[in-house]
Amino acid sequence: MASLTIKPGGPLQGTVSVPGDKSITHRAIILSALAEGESSISGYCKGEDCLNTMRTFQAMGVQINEQPDQLRVLGKGLWGLTEPDQPLDCGNSGTGIRLLAGLLAGQDFFTVLTGDASVRRRPMGRVVKPLREMGATIAGRKGGELAPLAITGSRLRGIAYTAPVASAQVKSALLLAGLYADGATSVTEPRRSRDHTERLLRYFGIPLQQEGCSVTLPSRQTGGWPAKDIAVPGDLSAAAFFTVGATLVPGSDLTIANVGVNPSRTGLLEILTEMGADIRLDHRGEQAGEPVADIRVRSAGLRGIRIGADRIPQMIDEFPILCVAAAVAEGETFITGAEELRVKESDRITVMASELRKMGAVITETPDGLRIQGLGGKRQHRLRGARCDSYGDHRVAMSLAMAAVLADGPTRIDDVACIETSFPCFEDKLSKLLTKS
Ligand code: S3P
Repeated sequence: MASLTIKPGGPLQGTVSVPGDKSITHRAIILSALAEGESSISGYCKGEDCLNTMRTFQAMGVQINEQPDQLRVLGKGLWGLTEPDQPLDCGNSGTGIRLLAGLLAGQDFFTVLTGDASVRRRPMGRVVKPLREMGATIAGRKGGELAPLAITGSRLRGIAYTAPVASAQVKSALLLAGLYADGATSVTEPRRSRDHTERLLRYFGIPLQQEGCSVTLPSRQTGGWPAKDIAVPGDLSAAAFFTVGATLVPGSDLTIANVGVNPSRTGLLEILTEMGADIRLDHRGEQAGEPVADIRVRSAGLRGIRIGADRIPQMIDEFPILCVAAAVAEGETFITGAEELRVKESDRITVMASELRKMGAVITETPDGLRIQGLGGKRQHRLRGARCDSYGDHRVAMSLAMAAVLADGPTRIDDVACIETSFPCFEDKLSKLLTKS
């Protein structure tokens, strides 16, 4: 298992780009595969998660030509997918497997969905249960709670589903199933999760109604939709590591170019600003129905903050890097209502507490979050170089790498091959930024 050793460094200066948005790339592949004709997806995320989704569609008969700067997808229409002759492997991607479960429930063929050890531990009941209410035939380990999932395509009916958790994966799975259902499909969430599926469906011309935390897709789509080119913005969740790094390393002034700034994703930027960060959005624009901007970050001292359940969905994937910011801020940060973090690629509450503690952070774990006593940013109170483990979680690995940049000596992070799932070239980009100074 590969490891990464990071020496303290910085400042972070200049302009950097990040990979295309992972969430949008999954959806772009799915909806362009169902379109009629050829779509190009430029700026796509080349992480393993999205490549696995691409391979599942190739296995279902969709021609996808993978070029360095774009994917060319020859869509086969709403009913054009064909039965794959072996299980579809979604790798590490919870998004891949859950969205595909929804899409495949309404096909006229049989599929098996599986993934790596982490995905096979993650809860699937949250999509299987409502899909069964729609008429889906899905079997799986522990009654369908765990993958592999075996799906016998069935005739579906639309339902009005009230989800117990705010989850874009659940909402998206049901909307994709809804494309094949008789009657409208509506999903109501306790809080609004990211809305990339809704935006991309609208971009392809499919009408949706949004009211508060509810979204409704009309009865099944008969006509399908024509192909359309999609330019994927940079991934805010990838930009988050450099945003926190540039905030915390004194003397930094970094621009992260062309990043998606969908308000359902920018919770971290708002929280950091409230903590005292100097973050500005320049050159705002729009790509494929998604807002984009350059993020300019200059170093600043941070103060601790209280974060409750209402703010978690907009920063769900940025929790690990927020923990790093809180660990060196002035004063206490108290995060509650974040129990969803326990069922991500790793249990991010336990893992971030244990790994940052190795670096000298003062952290107490609670059932639904963390209490972090910031070190206060003073030189004599810096994080310590240490030997840490990512537990196979890409966002933990990259968050620890940024913590390492701030430490008083080298830090070794074990098990970092997982970074490939979302951010190929992370190490290269980080070391270039650090050696520029
Ligand atoms: C994602 C939704 C989020 C997020 C995940 C990507 C998506 O999960 O954590 O990394 O692309 O829909 P939940 O919707 O389950 O919270």
